[in-house]
Amino acid sequence: MKFFVDTADIKDITDLAETGMVDGVTTNPSLVAKTGANFFDVLKDICAIVSGPVSAEVTATDSDGMLREADKLTAIADNITIKVPLTWDGLKTCKKLTSQDVMVNVTLCFSANQALLAAKAGATFISPFIGRLDDLALDGMQLIQEIRQVYDNYDAIETEILVASIRSANHVKDSALIGADVATIPPNVLRGLINHALTDKGLAAFLADWEKTGQSILS
Ligand code: G3P
Repeated sequence: MKFFVDTADIKDITDLAETGMVDGVTTNPSLVAKTGANFFDVLKDICAIVSGPVSAEVTATDSDGMLREADKLTAIADNITIKVPLTWDGLKTCKKLTSQDVMVNVTLCFSANQALLAAKAGATFISPFIGRLDDLALDGMQLIQEIRQVYDNYDAIETEILVASIRSANHVKDSALIGADVATIPPNVLRGLINHALTDKGLAAFLADWEKTGQSILS
């Protein structure tokens, strides 16, 4: 499963890219607003750090406007992926852009039917938001399972399932168990994936025992 980092924070992206775990980045208007920085500057900076897909969301709601915005955004770098909302205008835009070999991420997906529509529109990625479903006491992971099953029924579907609105390490694990293609993960959750008390305890014991030998590997 590919790991994208779900943030527009350059410091976090730089830091996490150094781990070698970052295959791409997703941003949205809320994440960009949080940085207080210029959208184009942020995207340029991210694309200079990460060579994989970098999602940049349009803000127009009509297809012509989305296409005009997409033109400006794709000019930033080759790895810009245009993010469109799951509306009829978004799907129309998706169809046009992907037929021109522009990568498209269809966002704000909350049902398997919506995911099917996005696949029919040729989406590169579909972004089901699992955390927001869980917030309503619905089952976000069940949606990922359904989309996986639907997509696997048809060889012609190449759309990748990009699990979004991830809130916990268990969301990442469950996405991988289901066979999602990508998880876009908030920086704090990505950092937390490595944590295990037994790893820390085991390492401390190894180092303490090594100390007792009085040896050094380098001398
Ligand atoms: O990639 C979409 C994601 O950022 C939404 O997450 O936590 O706002 O539901 P959240």
